[in-house]
Amino acid sequence: MDIVARQVSSRVASVHRHIESAANRFFRWRDAVLKGLHLGGRKAPYNDEGYEFEGGARDGIRKKHYDKSLRLLWKAEKHASWSSFRDCSKSEKLLMEMSEKTLSDVERKHLKRLESREFKELLDRSYTLRQKQAIVNLLLGVGHGEAYAWLVSAELLNEIKSTGARAALTMQVFEEAKHFVVLRELIQAFGVETRRQSAWEYMFMENVFKAEGLEKFFGMNVLVEAIALGIFGVMNDFPGLEILHLFHLDESRHTALPVNYFKEFPMSWWQKNSPVSRLRRFYLILPVVPLMMYFEQDFAELGVDVFDFGGSVVKRILKLAARAGFLLPMHDAGMTSMLNLVFNSYCSLTRTGHDWRDFAAVPGVQAVMGAA
Ligand SMILES: [Fe+2]
Ligand SMILES: [Fe+2]
Repeated sequence: MDIVARQVSSRVASVHRHIESAANRFFRWRDAVLKGLHLGGRKAPYNDEGYEFEGGARDGIRKKHYDKSLRLLWKAEKHASWSSFRDCSKSEKLLMEMSEKTLSDVERKHLKRLESREFKELLDRSYTLRQKQAIVNLLLGVGHGEAYAWLVSAELLNEIKSTGARAALTMQVFEEAKHFVVLRELIQAFGVETRRQSAWEYMFMENVFKAEGLEKFFGMNVLVEAIALGIFGVMNDFPGLEILHLFHLDESRHTALPVNYFKEFPMSWWQKNSPVSRLRRFYLILPVVPLMMYFEQDFAELGVDVFDFGGSVVKRILKLAARAGFLLPMHDAGMTSMLNLVFNSYCSLTRTGHDWRDFAAVPGVQAVMGAA
C-alpha cells in the first residue's frame, strides 16, 4: 500500500509502552487480589488474552443453538402477514412474491384473508366473544411470561461461561424479544380486554427473575417454557393461531439449552443435591398449583379440564428437570402423588360427583371447540 507514514518519536513510544505495561500488571494484580477476597475485581467474564469469554470457545453449543436458531429464524412479516411487522429482507420479499405466483387462486385467497382487517374478521367468524376472551386470557399467561423470558435470558448472559454458550443464549434473548412483540400484536388483534398478571403469575415470574445464578435456567427454561409449550399445544391448531407452531419450535429449543450447557459445564454434586437448592426449586413450582385453579374457567371454555392440562405440564416439568439435573426434594412418584392429592381434593370440594383420577397419567390435552 502506498501510504506515507508519519514520524513519531520512538523514545516517547518506548516510554509509553513501559508505563502501560506497569499499569497493566498493576490493574490485573489488583483485580485478581480483589476477586480472591470476594471484594469485586474484574466484572467482565472475558479472557482478552485468549480472545475468548471465560470457559473457552465451546463451538458445539453454539452450533446447536445459535447457528440452528439462525437457520430456523422466522420473520413475522411472512408468517404473520396480518401484523405490522416489516422485517423481511429484499431477497426474502422477492422469494415470497415468486412463490405467491405459483399458488392456485384458492391458495392465494387463503393467504390474502390473513391480512390485517381480514385476519380480525377471521377471528370474529371463528370464535364467540367468550371464546376470544378465554383464548386471550390464556395467551396472556404466555404473553406476560415472554416479557420475563426476555428479562431473565438477558440477565443470564452474565452468569454463563464460554463464547459458544453466550452466542446460544444471545439468540434466546433475540427470540424472546420477537415472541413478546409478535404475541402482543396477535393478542391485540382479538379486540377484547387484556388482563394484568394474576397474583400467582406475578409471584411465579418474580421468583424466577430473582432466582440465583444458573437456577434461573430451572425457573425459565424448565418451568415457564413447559407451561408455554402446554398452552401452545392446546391452541396451535385453532383458526388464526397457526403461528404458535413457530413459537413452539423456538421454545422447545430453549428447553434444551440447560441440558446442552450442563454437558459442557456440569453442575457440581452440591449444586444439584443441596437441600436448600432442592427446596428452592420446589418453592418456584408452587405457584403453578393456584395458577391452574385460576385458569380453570378459561380452559373449560375451550373444552379442556385444567387439571388434565396441569398434570401433563407437571409431567413435562419433571422430565425436563431430570434431563438437566435439577433435582427436587422428592422423586417423580412422590411429586405426582402429591399433585394428584391436591388436584383431586380440590375437585372433590368444588365438583359434584368427582371420581379420583390420576391427572399425571393423562396422555395429552385436546381442546374441544364449540361452533361460533
Ligand atoms: Fe418465548
Ligand atoms: Fe423461550
